[in-house]
Amino acid sequence: MMSEQNEMALLREAILGDGLVEAVFQGAQRGAAPPWPRVAIRPVRIRQARHLQFAYFDGVQEVAKNYRGEEAGAKLDELLALPFKSIQAITAGETLRVQFSKKGRAILHRERRHQEQTIPLELAHDRAKPSLLPEDEPIPFLQALGVMTADGRVRADQQRKFRQINEFLRLIEETGELAELTERPVRVVDLGCGSAALTFATYYYLNEVRGIPATLTGVDTKAHLLERHRATAERLGWDGMRFQTARIIDYEADAPADIVLALHACDTATDEALARAVRWGSRLIFSAPCCHHHLQAQLAAAETPEPFRPVLRHGILRERLGDTLTDAFRAHILRLLGYRAEVLEFVAVEHTPKNLMIRAVHTGAPALPSLVAEYRAMKAYWGVTPFLEELLRDRLVAVLS
Ligand SMILES: C[S@@+](CC[C@H](N)C(=O)[O-])C[C@H]1O[C@@H](n2cnc3c(N)ncnc32)[C@H](O)[C@@H]1O
Repeated sequence: MMSEQNEMALLREAILGDGLVEAVFQGAQRGAAPPWPRVAIRPVRIRQARHLQFAYFDGVQEVAKNYRGEEAGAKLDELLALPFKSIQAITAGETLRVQFSKKGRAILHRERRHQEQTIPLELAHDRAKPSLLPEDEPIPFLQALGVMTADGRVRADQQRKFRQINEFLRLIEETGELAELTERPVRVVDLGCGSAALTFATYYYLNEVRGIPATLTGVDTKAHLLERHRATAERLGWDGMRFQTARIIDYEADAPADIVLALHACDTATDEALARAVRWGSRLIFSAPCCHHHLQAQLAAAETPEPFRPVLRHGILRERLGDTLTDAFRAHILRLLGYRAEVLEFVAVEHTPKNLMIRAVHTGAPALPSLVAEYRAMKAYWGVTPFLEELLRDRLVAVLS
């Protein structure tokens, strides 16, 4: 058996090695409290030199620092000495996971990827964007969706879709939470699944790349689309995949979902999806909002705060401000209800120029009084009530009173 020292040395070597895709430190060992609930490390290229970017998340915001060489090693050693509950390092060829026993002993699990699943490394100018699916090998679901040709190349007009799929999978992977999902099968629900490329991609990634048994239900009002998806799932032999024709608000699940996707669902359909996820207590939520109308109407009717008159005078700026406030309220409500919520950039798609993603992980942490005060102040200042508050009023009353 490998000694604990050797296990930690292996992990250190993987994180400092050239093959690193991402490492995530998170959670707290029993009775301990590391200064950050989550720290992620990924390689980035800055002025032609490879650095490691350390993103320290304090529960509300993320601060990123870039280090290289010995300094990166020293910063890593600082993290390794802290009492995190789990550490995961994804490299091009394998995933290493360290979990700590109740007595604080490190246990290392290594999962080598098959040759065909190795992750190609690609450092963007200022940020690593590893492509989690290979670009030049046939992947049956991508062929079925018309993203790849029969000989396994991404079609020229599908490059953007392929990039979006990869980026989405990376947003899931980098939460570091997949290893924490212990229920089997993991239940995923995609509310407003539409043409379902990301739906199929999620099912594939969990079951076939990560080897995590998962079921997935896609929900949408468009029956004809879902009929086609059912046929595709059947052709692929994916019997854990279901599609249900329903409005998000009416969808009746037979069990709560562990992961909820709500990607580009229109206006308040996003709020309905977020409210469902909160009521299920879903561990992970990925929501890319689309159009925002509900708050816009309230902003137009409310008294404009004096300093914002020059902004709200212009239709397009008023609209963008309304979008921003809607999503800020959404993320804030999730925080108040026990989620760690981040607002990130996500690639825009053909049906919307919006490029934002709310990613939330359920931690169950109680709402800090400062967050409650911020929420009240934001509502009072703008004279609005977000739709998500209306949907979750019973939950929020307890937090806000
Ligand atoms: C813009 S498409 C996005 C599809 C897919 N999630 C994506 O990101 O590519 C939005 C989808 O949400 C569905 N949708 C909108 N409101 C809905 C609601 N209230 N209940 C169920 N589906 C809804 C629409 O039918 C449409 O297929």
